Amino acid sequence: MTSSSATNATRRTAATSTLRAAVIGSGGISAQHLGYLRDSARADLVGVCDLSPITARYAGEFYGTAGIFTDAAQMIAETRPDVVHVLTPPSSHVGLALSCLDAGAHVLVEKPAAPTLPELHTLLDKAAAADRHVIENHNYRFNDGVVALADAVAAGRLGTVREVEIRMALDIRSPGGRFADENLPNGIHKMPAGVVHDFITHLTYLLDHFTSHVDWQRIAAGWSNHGGGDLFTVDDLDCTLIGHGPEGAVHGKLRFSALTGPEQFMVTVRGSEGFGVTELFQPYVELNVPRAGGGQLSPIANHIANGRTRFGEGFRNVGRKLMQRSPYHGLHQLLDDTYAALADGTEPPVTPEQMIRTASIIDAILDPEVRV
Ligand SMILES: NC(=O)c1ccc[n+]([C@@H]2O[C@H](COP(=O)([O-])OP(=O)(O)OC[C@H]3O[C@@H](n4cnc5c(N)ncnc54)[C@H](O)[C@@H]3O)[C@@H](O)[C@H]2O)c1
Repeated sequence: MTSSSATNATRRTAATSTLRAAVIGSGGISAQHLGYLRDSARADLVGVCDLSPITARYAGEFYGTAGIFTDAAQMIAETRPDVVHVLTPPSSHVGLALSCLDAGAHVLVEKPAAPTLPELHTLLDKAAAADRHVIENHNYRFNDGVVALADAVAAGRLGTVREVEIRMALDIRSPGGRFADENLPNGIHKMPAGVVHDFITHLTYLLDHFTSHVDWQRIAAGWSNHGGGDLFTVDDLDCTLIGHGPEGAVHGKLRFSALTGPEQFMVTVRGSEGFGVTELFQPYVELNVPRAGGGQLSPIANHIANGRTRFGEGFRNVGRKLMQRSPYHGLHQLLDDTYAALADGTEPPVTPEQMIRTASIIDAILDPEVRV
């Protein structure tokens, strides 16, 4: 299915830096990408494609493009996009992204960009040869809470980073959920880490964000199927990484649990001087750092100083809550930074090196040799 007038009829008047954007896969996550593309002056949505005609038509009509397709190759040929968003299930990412690069487009691909490191290299090599960019969606790196922790680290407020823990709790076995329905096959079950593979990229790029300088030397990964049965290969990950950075030992912890509640996504960074925590599903940031001027206060003054800090953090957290920023606000920031970079010819905010380090860690923790 296509709209013959797709290429020109609905094109908005574009500033010189406006890039032509197309989307492959208009399922769940596409609402975030398409919402950005509809609202941004940096992008002109020229096409939407989904294997399901009704899904593609709904997305095209709702987000304002007459370029509605069920065949990705046809959409790319007819709309000639500068950027294609690949938002399909993970097993199809590499093939679709390669064909977008062949057509001369940059590719913004949902995580995981590729199921394994060698396949990611294939993609990145092709992009380099075509002088195009492949950008994997590392959206949570751009959430306010993670930015606040990264700023605190950069300012030296935590001292030397010594431990990073990324913890996600999701009720993926919920009977009404999209992963647990035996009658609704979901390709994610066939990924190397099953359903957990759908989330592990998030855990890993966040770890790497705070430890990019670390050489991980010892890894132990406990993959479990606590809920049993054949549908889920695993539903739990408990992984410890121990490595060395320029300033000594660093520990990493990646945790995915389907058993604990409430659903949460927590990032904790511990340094030699203090620590910071953020919750990405709820707007929450807490910093526990030495006071300006350093040194210990007497115990009572210390309690007062801590109370004031907590009060200030609480006030800011209420503000974040009232702002009702969705957990996907980082995705919109990433897209905006990416479109700005592509228009300016500068390096996009997610680099090949970050993608390679992320995929390397995932491959390493999937290695049967490190299983406990
Ligand atoms: N970054 C995030 O926070 C985040 C959140 C959710 C999902 N995701 C990722 O986004 C991707 C998609 O997830 P989803 O939840 O939107 O899945 P979904 O199943 O809701 O949607 C995928 C859509 O792609 C379509 N599709 C499949 N193959 C296609 C093809 N060859 N051509 C055109 N359309 C095709 C399907 O018909 C479906 O409508 C996954 O990689 C997932 O891990 C990322």
